[in-house]
Amino acid sequence: MVTDRSHSLLLLVAVLLSLVSSGAKVSALEAEALLQWKASLQTQSLHSWSLTNASNRSPCTWTGIACNDAGSVMEINLPKVGLHGTLDNLSFSSFPNLTRLDLGSNSLSGTIPSTIGDSVKLTYLILSDNQISGSIPHEIGNLKSLTELSLFTNNLVGQIPLSLSNLSNLQYIFLGKNQISGSIPPEIGNLVNLIQLGIPNNHLTGSIPSSLGNLTKLTYLYLHVNQISGPIPQEIGNLKNLVGLLLSSNLLSGSIPSNFGNLTQLSNFSLGRCQLSGSIPQEMMNLTNMARVDLSDNNFDGSLPQQICSGRSLVYFIVYNNRFAGPLPESLRNCTTLTRMRLERNQLTGNISEIFGEYPNLEYIDLSYNQFHGELLPNWGRWKQLTLLRISSNKLTGKIPVELALLTQLGVLDLFSNHLVGEIPKELGSLSSLFDLSLNENQLAGEIPSELGKLSNLEILDLSTNSLIGQIPEQLGDCSKLRYLNLSVNYLNGSIPSHMGDLKSLQDLLDLSHNSLSGGIPPSLGNLLMLEILNLSHNYLSGYLPSGLGNMPSLITVDISYNDLEGPLPNGKAFKQASPEAIRNNTGLCGEVQGLPLCNLAKEHSGKGHKVVIFIVVPVIGLLFILLVLFGFCFFFNRTAKNEETKNEIRKGYVFSVWDYNGSILFDEIIKATENFNEKYCIGKGGYGTVYKAELPTIQVVVIKKLRSLDDGESAHEEAFKNEIQALTEIRHRNIVKLYGFCSNRHCKFLIYEYMERGSLASALISIKEAIQLDWIKRVNVIKGVAHALSYMHHDCVLPIVHRDISSKNILLDSEFEACISDFGIAKLLKPDSSNWTTLAGTHGCIAPGK
Ligand SMILES: *[C@@H]1O[C@H](CO)[C@@H](O)[C@H](O)[C@H]1NC(C)=O
Ligand SMILES: *[C@@H]1O[C@H](CO)[C@@H](O)[C@H](O)[C@H]1NC(C)=O
Ligand SMILES: *[C@@H]1O[C@H](CO)[C@@H](O)[C@H](O)[C@H]1NC(C)=O
Repeated sequence: MVTDRSHSLLLLVAVLLSLVSSGAKVSALEAEALLQWKASLQTQSLHSWSLTNASNRSPCTWTGIACNDAGSVMEINLPKVGLHGTLDNLSFSSFPNLTRLDLGSNSLSGTIPSTIGDSVKLTYLILSDNQISGSIPHEIGNLKSLTELSLFTNNLVGQIPLSLSNLSNLQYIFLGKNQISGSIPPEIGNLVNLIQLGIPNNHLTGSIPSSLGNLTKLTYLYLHVNQISGPIPQEIGNLKNLVGLLLSSNLLSGSIPSNFGNLTQLSNFSLGRCQLSGSIPQEMMNLTNMARVDLSDNNFDGSLPQQICSGRSLVYFIVYNNRFAGPLPESLRNCTTLTRMRLERNQLTGNISEIFGEYPNLEYIDLSYNQFHGELLPNWGRWKQLTLLRISSNKLTGKIPVELALLTQLGVLDLFSNHLVGEIPKELGSLSSLFDLSLNENQLAGEIPSELGKLSNLEILDLSTNSLIGQIPEQLGDCSKLRYLNLSVNYLNGSIPSHMGDLKSLQDLLDLSHNSLSGGIPPSLGNLLMLEILNLSHNYLSGYLPSGLGNMPSLITVDISYNDLEGPLPNGKAFKQASPEAIRNNTGLCGEVQGLPLCNLAKEHSGKGHKVVIFIVVPVIGLLFILLVLFGFCFFFNRTAKNEETKNEIRKGYVFSVWDYNGSILFDEIIKATENFNEKYCIGKGGYGTVYKAELPTIQVVVIKKLRSLDDGESAHEEAFKNEIQALTEIRHRNIVKLYGFCSNRHCKFLIYEYMERGSLASALISIKEAIQLDWIKRVNVIKGVAHALSYMHHDCVLPIVHRDISSKNILLDSEFEACISDFGIAKLLKPDSSNWTTLAGTHGCIAPGK
């Protein structure tokens, strides 16, 4: 109240003072209007907007204000100054001489007031990059002098007002990234002075009006990412000054009008991801300025335009997923400007050793799924910028040139499904950036070079279905990021190197099937805790299956058929649920599984088993006895009777676990490792309860999240709780924290999670030391990881899962700064009666992501 009154008093004084100078009356009213608006904003940046300082009496010296000679406000320029608030208190009628209003890149909200129509001299109206909502007011049609209307990146809805077509001086219309709907009014064709028209990323429907062909001064027409349908009007071909024409991601159909060859200035041309068909007018690409062409994902046929790179300015040439046929354009041969060439999934032909010339700038070339033949030439090793080289599913012959090893930036080398022969060059081991090496389905011979073990960034290695011989080099175990390893259908022999158990990142597949591998299965394979599919079938593997294979928490599918294996099947879901096909044709497997005889323990311990009894079992029993005695002492001294009572009661509840691990042993291990949830193992606290770190002797380091017990004792929720946990344990993704199991009953609820070394993203960002370590590349990786996880949850799960609480606190980082989403449904666990509980309780789990 007090400040308001002193404010008005100040204003009055200012008005009186300013009356003294000539022509100052207007200026004083304007100052008042500006201050009124300022008072409605939350901003720290308009200090100079004040009447307290005598030198500031005229607003003309204020930040962002420019006046005409008479001292009246002409321009308000306040881009990127952190304005928060609305335009509601900006009295447009108070500025009779305003020609420029630039409030771009602030945090303005609310709507565009209809009083904007009072600023009749306005030539520039820039409100882009704010959070303005509502529709564009009809009154905008009063701004007869307007030359630039820039409203992109806001939350505008509604239609494009018809009145816009009255503004015959308009040169620039930028309305992109809003939610504008309806169709483009044909009357826009009246705006003959338009130079740029951009309405991309909206919800426009209807067709492109042919009247746009009148806009002969137009240089940019951007309408991409809308739902515009119908054909591209012939009249667009009249826009001879067009430099950029982006119509991609719409529902456009029909073919490209033949007169598009007139668009001689065109340099950026995109019709990708529409429903267009027919052939490309040959004149079209005789365009010397063409730099970026995207025709991908349509039904175009015919040949590619011969002159496409005749101007030597082509940078992007993207035509994948069409039906283009015939040879590549001659002009592409030495198209040295190219950085990106995507021709995959067409019916292109030709000899690749003849059609490709010099590409010193090429970063990305994908020719897969075409009918190219010929050999890879050594000169491909000169395209030093190449990061991706894909020529899969063609008819390539000859060898893989050693020179490819010179492509030091290469991340993807994918030559699968061709007729390549010869050996895999060991020099490829020097491609330190490589993360995908797919050479499967060729006729490659010789041994797997042990140098591949140096590929420390490799995630995908597929050498399957070739004629490779020799042993699996144990160095492959050094590829610590390997996620997918397929060596199946070759002639590999020898035993499986035990070093393979060090491939801790293996997740999607380990397939060694259809080889001549012999010897026992190394127990170290049980260390592959993330592995989902293990295929060892069709080999000569013998001996007992290591019981550790039963403790692989992620394993879903296992195939050990056609080997010489014997003895009991390990525990574990994958083995219990294995189909008869996956275990058949072995020497002597047994177990409680369909298709196998029950194990006869007595028989198994006969014969050479005696020595085992004497040399192993006796000392083990002795050791166990000593341990038991020691443990008994600890127990006696450390536990109160009350604790023991609680524990027994808890035991009566259930410990469900996806390890298929004995529940009560697991429970004991956890109690022991955390010394009955001792404070010193506590690593975090929250509203939900307490988090402990536990080093379990038999398994690994885990995190125990002990929930506050709910005393409502509603047993009806117990079943739902169990169902949800079960669903969450089905989620298998490397960017989602694994839930290993839980304990639940009236007195105690806890969840057992994978341990993440670096804690939450939030804590990493707060700690200066860690924030520096978390450089931009790692941050981008974190974002990618979270996006993968969300996409998986939203699209790959049978019933989509919505996390609802993604924040930096719920994103955890492992030792490699790989992100994992955590805290699934904890909120829902705490409030089982919240409305979303029931919808999620029935979740059915997820489809594992494919390769
Ligand atoms: C393309 O341009 C070349 C040289 O500028 C010219 O000779 C040729 O006739 C043109 N082709 C078409 C189809 O317009
Ligand atoms: C492409 O470049 C190579 C090497 O610079 C040159 O020998 C060849 O003649 C060029 N071909 C064409 C068609 O320009
Ligand atoms: C394992 O590999 C064999 C041969 O490569 C294949 O036939 C079989 O389907 C695979 N098993 C599974 C479960 O994928």
